[in-house]
Amino acid sequence: MRANPVMLSEKVIEAANKAIDSEERLIVKAYGFIPVTEFFMRDFIKKILTKFNRPELASAVSMLIKELTVNAAKANFKKLLFLENSIDVKNPADYERGMKLFREAITDTMPFEYGAKAKEASLNVHTSFDFDAERIIIEVKNNLPMSPIEEQRVREKLRQAMECEDIADFMMENVDETEGAGLGIILSLMALKSSAIDPHALTISTDFKNETIARVEIPLTDSYKPQLRRAHDATVAS
Ligand SMILES: Nc1ncnc2c1ncn2[C@@H]1O[C@H](COP(=O)(O)OP(=O)(O)OP(=O)(O)O)[C@@H](O)[C@H]1O
Ligand SMILES: [Mg+2]
Repeated sequence: MRANPVMLSEKVIEAANKAIDSEERLIVKAYGFIPVTEFFMRDFIKKILTKFNRPELASAVSMLIKELTVNAAKANFKKLLFLENSIDVKNPADYERGMKLFREAITDTMPFEYGAKAKEASLNVHTSFDFDAERIIIEVKNNLPMSPIEEQRVREKLRQAMECEDIADFMMENVDETEGAGLGIILSLMALKSSAIDPHALTISTDFKNETIARVEIPLTDSYKPQLRRAHDATVAS
C-alpha cells in the first residue's frame, strides 16, 4: 500500500522543527522517491524559506529538489535493472537494449519495487539541507558514479539551460527521450532563473568511482555571493 503523504510521524515532524529552530544541517536518507519523502522535503524547505522571509522561492526550490532526488534514485534503479538483465554497458547494442528496458520500467510502481531493491543493495540517495539566514545549500548524493555517457548528458543539459531563453521554443526543438523526457534539469534551472537565481548555482559532479553529487546554493539575501560554477564547467572530476 502506498504511504499517505500527510501521515508524517510526530517524531519526524519534531526532528524537522528542531533542525529549523537551531539551524542544524538535516540529512534525509532515502532509496526511492516515494510521496511521503517528497512531501516531507517540500514542507521542510517551505518552513525554512518562510523563517528567512523568502517563501516565494518555495515552489522553484521544491521542484529542483524533486528533480535531483528523482534523477539520483533513477540512476540507482538503472544500475539494478542493468544487473538483473546482464547488460554490458560497454557493448552499444546491449546498452540500447538496457535503455529500452529502463524506459519501459519507469512507471508509477517503479519507486516502490526498485526502492525496496535499492535498500537491499545499499544504493541510497542522501539529501542534505545546510542553511542559515544567508543561504541554503542543498546536496543530493547517490552512491554510484555517473558513467561517461551520463556525465556528458548532464553537461549538455546544463549548457542548454544556460542558453535557453524560452522554454516553449526549446521543447519544440530538443525533445530528448533517451531516459525520461530529458527536461528535468532544464525546467528546474528555468524555474531558478525566473526567481532571479543564477543557474550556475547548480553543479552536478562525479568522482567517476563512488558517487554523484548534485549541489545547489540558494542565496537568501541580496548581499550574499554564492560560489558559482564557471560557464560550461558543468561537472568536476576529482
Ligand atoms: N545522479 C545522476 N546519476 C547519473 N546520471 C544522472 C544523474 N542525474 C542526471 N543524470 C543524467 O542526466 C540526464 C538528464 O537529466 P534530466 O533530469 O534533465 O532528464 P531525465 O531525467 O532523463 O528526464 P525527465 O527529468 O524529463 O524525466 C539523465 O537522463 C541522466 O542520464
Ligand atoms: Mg530528470
